[in-house]
Amino acid sequence: MAIETDMTGKVALVTGAASGLGRATAQKLALAGAKLCLVDVNAESLAETAALIAEAATEPLVHAVDLADPDACRDAVTATVDHFGRLDALCNIAGIIYLANSPEMPIALWHQTMAVNLSAPWFLSQAAIPHLLETNGAIVNCASSAAFIGEAYAAAYCASKAGLVNLTKAMAMEYVKQPIRINAVAPGGMLTNIAVNFQPPEGCDVDLIKRFSGLRGQVEVDDVADMICLLASDAGRGYHGACINIDAGITAG
Ligand SMILES: NC(=O)c1ccc[n+]([C@@H]2O[C@H](COP(=O)([O-])OP(=O)(O)OC[C@H]3O[C@@H](n4cnc5c(N)ncnc54)[C@H](O)[C@@H]3O)[C@@H](O)[C@H]2O)c1
Repeated sequence: MAIETDMTGKVALVTGAASGLGRATAQKLALAGAKLCLVDVNAESLAETAALIAEAATEPLVHAVDLADPDACRDAVTATVDHFGRLDALCNIAGIIYLANSPEMPIALWHQTMAVNLSAPWFLSQAAIPHLLETNGAIVNCASSAAFIGEAYAAAYCASKAGLVNLTKAMAMEYVKQPIRINAVAPGGMLTNIAVNFQPPEGCDVDLIKRFSGLRGQVEVDDVADMICLLASDAGRGYHGACINIDAGITAG
């Protein structure tokens, strides 16, 4: 039996909504009845997502900002609540990866990776939690299989995503006595822009890069988006502090 994700009357803020998993999640949440605030640094592609959603469901609020800025994270939550009057789900999906030989990773790219992948979900959560407590809402963080296995040349990404998994669990424990729910998904490789634009470092060991995709290959974006929608909705009531691996077995061994 299919699980019904009903978001009628609910408001969701989705980061990374300009493409890939964020766009797919936003579209599914809108079809399930949610009103949306779409957040991304890529204003042009974000407008495309907004048009797709407006055509199929209701007009979203569009918030084009760089989430590496903590103030922008807080402003995104404030704008959502000012516009819609409530917040039921925060889906932290925006993410970046830079591959490098560790000694050559530029300092700025280390900080940018942490800012977008780890700090932004934290600052967004800080701002969102008071509102989610009013609606018995949910946070869903997008981690990665890279949180659980070492991926060569991706130390910053792996560290940021592992941090995000335990950030999820720590916040879940802090709110274990309240009805809000805080969870994560950990996808394996998906065919999105982040994967297509993958830039392995020059002279890298190709054997090590090949290991990223596992023995069963890519995961479907739609399958991960469905799980995020489930965790964001009341149908996910049994999940709290969980990180759901959707990776075609890549973290199995
Ligand atoms: N595609 C994969 O193989 C894969 C595997 C595991 C986990 N993930 C995770 O899935 C999530 C979604 O990625 P995707 O695969 O859809 O890739 P994607 O590149 O299509 O989407 C990422 C989005 O994040 C946005 N973004 C990047 N930096 C930002 C910033 N500073 N402020 C606001 N938005 C910013 C981008 O503009 C983009 O729209 C990411 O967290 C990624 O780490 C992806």
